[in-house]
Formats: sequence, C-alpha cells, structure tokens
Amino acid sequence: SEIEKGTYPHYMLKEIDEQPLVVRRIIQEYQNEAGELEINADILEAMNEADRIYIIAAGTSYHAGLVGKHFIEKMAQIPVEVHVSSEFGYNMPLLSEKPLFIFITQSGETADSRAVLVHIKELGYNALTITNVAGSTLSREADYTLLLHAGPEIAVASTKAYTAQMAVLAILADVTARSKGLMQNLDLVKELGIVANGMEVLCDAKEEMEEIAWQYLTTTRNAFFIGRGLDYFVGLEGSLKLKEISYIQAEGFAGGELKHGTIALIEDGTPVIALATQEHVNLSIRGNVKEVAARGANPCIISMKGLEADDDRYVIPVVNELLSPLVSVIPLQLISYYAALHRDCDVDKPRNLAKSVTVE
Ligand code: G6P
Repeated sequence: SEIEKGTYPHYMLKEIDEQPLVVRRIIQEYQNEAGELEINADILEAMNEADRIYIIAAGTSYHAGLVGKHFIEKMAQIPVEVHVSSEFGYNMPLLSEKPLFIFITQSGETADSRAVLVHIKELGYNALTITNVAGSTLSREADYTLLLHAGPEIAVASTKAYTAQMAVLAILADVTARSKGLMQNLDLVKELGIVANGMEVLCDAKEEMEEIAWQYLTTTRNAFFIGRGLDYFVGLEGSLKLKEISYIQAEGFAGGELKHGTIALIEDGTPVIALATQEHVNLSIRGNVKEVAARGANPCIISMKGLEADDDRYVIPVVNELLSPLVSVIPLQLISYYAALHRDCDVDKPRNLAKSVTVE
C-alpha cells in the first residue's frame, strides 16, 4: 500500500496514535486568519434555514452521528434525528418542512447511505456530506461537503475517522450556534486542544490497556459495554470495535436498560466495561455496575479524573464533558486492539468485513 505502516505492526495502531494530530489538524483547517472557527457560509445558511436535521450513516459513522445529534441540539438548538442508512427507506420518518440531511461517511462510498442521498435529492432536499475523501461519490452528489482531514484510514475498523467526525460535528454545531447568536460557554478551540492532549496521554497508556485486555478479554465469549448519556454512545462504538476485530460477542447498553432483559446474560466473570465521564450520571452508572457485580460480572470502570472512585480500572484525563467521547473511545479502541492481538485475529483485515461496502 502507498501508505506506510512505518514501525507500527498494524495500521489500526498507527491510526489510533494519529488521533491527537488529526484533532489538531482539524482545528487548523477550520480556523480563519483571526483564529476563529469558521464554516463555509452556504453550509451555515443551510443549517440556519433547517427546522430539523436528519443525520444518515452506517456503522461507526452512525455512532459518531449519535454524538453529533447531542452536539447540534445542545449547542445550536436545532432538533436532530439520526438514522441508520439501510433502514431509512423502510422506516421513513415523517419529514419536517425544511429538513437538512447530513451524511456522515468516512469513505464517501457506502451504498446504503448513497441510496438515501439519491432519494432525498429526488425529493428536492439539501444534503451535506461529512467525509474523509474529497471527490468521493457522496461528496460529489451532495450540495455541500465538510472534510475530516484525518488522512487515509486503511484498517477496516475505523478509529481516527470516528474522532474526526465528532470533532467536525462539534465545530459545525459551535459555529452554527454562534451564527444564531446563541452564547456558547465553551471555547471550542481551547477545549479541542485539551482533548488532543488528553488523547496523547491515552495513546501513551498502551501497556495499561494491554493489561486490561489480558485481564478481561483473553478467554471470554462475550462482553458488555455500559454507560449513560454520551457514555452510552461511546459504549456502542466500543462494542462494535471489539466485535469487528476480536470476534467477541459484545453489546453496548444504556446503563439503565440492562436490567430490562439483558442482565439475564450476566454470569460469573462476564466482563462489563463501564464508562463514567459524565457528572450527572456518575452515581447512577456506578449503581448499574453494582447490580451486575452482584450477579458475578467482572466490572472494569473507566472514569474521568474528578469523577473517579477507588476501584476504577483506569482514569482518563479531564476534558470538557461534552467532548469526552473523543477521548474516552481511545481506551476502548486500544483494548479491542490488544484483545484481537491476544486472540490471534487479523487486526487490520477482519474476516467478513470490507472497508467500504458498496453494495446495498
Ligand atoms: C463498513 C466498515 C465500517 C464503517 C461502515 C460505514 O461497514 O467496515 O467500519 O463504519 O462501513 O462506512 P463509511 O465509509 O460510510 O463511514
């Protein structure tokens, strides 16, 4: 391949390590000469005219979309729905009067997402594609494009594109909010800088993550990821990473939903990886951990500095709570990587998967 792995044994590990750099590059790419974040005026106008945003995506990009909805609703106060592209046609939502469609796609080539784009263009609606590949099909066929600037992603399991998608969505939400005169109590350039630094700390914690993978995931058949709020969405992504490359059956669950059925699967030693990065749900997620531990689960709590408790397995550096997914996903990426390695799986080219799926 044209892109070299250098000293890395796998593209995935290299791409995980590139995340701090990618976030810094995104800040630069979206900054104007005055150092302020800027988005193309036509895109801002489309955002401001929309009465509702429909995010369409698949796989990891869908998980970035769930976080993006949170950013856009919290910062820019525009209602957002997030849809899996392959289901959109069957479960077509009742559209608002002035919808704007946002396609999130690393490759810009996913057939399921393209089918929705073709359909909504026929209906006469506007589309913005957020992609890593300039000139890709979904970029060319949409009205507007925002680039991820993540550099080529080679490993099938997406890592740096996910964090890049969330960074760009945060910038889009922030700039839109400001253009609407909504006061933001966060300095996003500064906060994303702190995120990049936090990411670096985690990229340096490979030994700790390898140990966690050893301790929890070497022999298990299944694993659960739990969290509340934004942590829930990151858990969904963590479980997808683990499934994709280690073939361990893994599920992400909302902390409070586990008791409504899935807790029946908890046995002696079942790994339950819990994220605790959000202050308002810190106590309740820890309550959920106690519930599964009482049934024999082997809990692994990953919390954020300031919210930590004695038996937490790892504590990530403090970042703005809203942006915590960009940092808290890194331990999950690394744990999945080492779990796959220990289980002798082909990390960069997992069975049955393709980097971009161009059939519906
Ligand atoms: C494939 C890949 C996934 C990816 C999904 C969406 O299934 O294996 O890693 O998340 O497609 O890809 P996209 O390029 O549209 O983000």
